[in-house]
Amino acid sequence: MSAPRPSRPLVVVVGVGRLGGALALALRAKRWPVRVVVRSEESRRRALELGLKVASEEEVSRARVCLLSVPDQAVPSVAEAMKPRLERGAALVHCAGALSLTALGPPRGRVLGSFHPLVAVSDPRDSLEGNSVAVSTRSPWLREVLEQMAKDAGMRVLRVPEKHRAAYHAGAVLSAGGVVAALSSAVEALRTAGISEEDALAALLPLARSALRGVEARGLSAGYTGPIARGDAGVVEAHLAALPPEVVDVYRPLSLRGLELVGKRLSPEARAALERLLEA
Ligand SMILES: NC(=O)c1ccc[n+]([C@@H]2O[C@H](COP(=O)([O-])OP(=O)(O)OC[C@H]3O[C@@H](n4cnc5c(N)ncnc54)[C@H](OP(=O)(O)O)[C@@H]3O)[C@@H](O)[C@H]2O)c1
Repeated sequence: MSAPRPSRPLVVVVGVGRLGGALALALRAKRWPVRVVVRSEESRRRALELGLKVASEEEVSRARVCLLSVPDQAVPSVAEAMKPRLERGAALVHCAGALSLTALGPPRGRVLGSFHPLVAVSDPRDSLEGNSVAVSTRSPWLREVLEQMAKDAGMRVLRVPEKHRAAYHAGAVLSAGGVVAALSSAVEALRTAGISEEDALAALLPLARSALRGVEARGLSAGYTGPIARGDAGVVEAHLAALPPEVVDVYRPLSLRGLELVGKRLSPEARAALERLLEA
């Protein structure tokens, strides 16, 4: 009978950038044996500054899980370079939401997986706690290890079927970059009113956070506020007349989406008036 596998096996993280550093620190905080693989003196220095240990070749060969936290376009080549350095049966896992498992190439005796935290990490010291992570693998053993990793880092697991990865990732992108893009249109609207970008952001960021808290507390439909939710076509008409055309192009589809959220609560007349304005 083979020896039981440890529940917190040796993990090597390739790339001590924003996410790689944050993952390594989160795992180390929960006493996982974790080492990092660096490619330059500069990244070695950064790893040491973070208090992370750089893997020896012997540790790489003993690792049970190798997390690739390198830019998406480097995943295929770094995966090929790591395979011969890892023992057979070790797991090779990427962290890219946009990439399927095929980006890791043929398994060559390794187990493949993906571990994509739904968070925008700006600095390795950022906490991952409270965020979700999309896990994908065909191996029950690796799934168990990745889910333990998520739990220890304080993350909620989301299982993503490989065939729906693009739709999943599009949703993740809409809620991160999409929100930022919507916010940039809001800033432009305030600039039209003579307000500087700095003042606009200082005012709009807390407003955006309060709106998200509303969704957290009451859900999407009840958390959606503003003139569309009140069925106030007069206010929406004034907005459309006041905004520059490029902001109107963003305002219209977002408002139509809001109308879908609250339409059932409005009178048929109010709904029809809003549709006429927004679809024009
Ligand atoms: N940042 C996030 O919020 C976030 C969230 C979810 C998923 N992800 C995913 O996590 C992965 C890493 O993203 P990141 O934002 O952490 O990137 P990053 O901050 O740019 O860090 C990338 C790291 O990869 C190393 N690297 C670059 N090219 C390499 C190569 N050819 N071989 C070996 N190492 C290489 C870099 O080393 P040097 O330090 O030597 O340059 C750097 O340490 C990506 O797949 C990304 O999609 C990121």
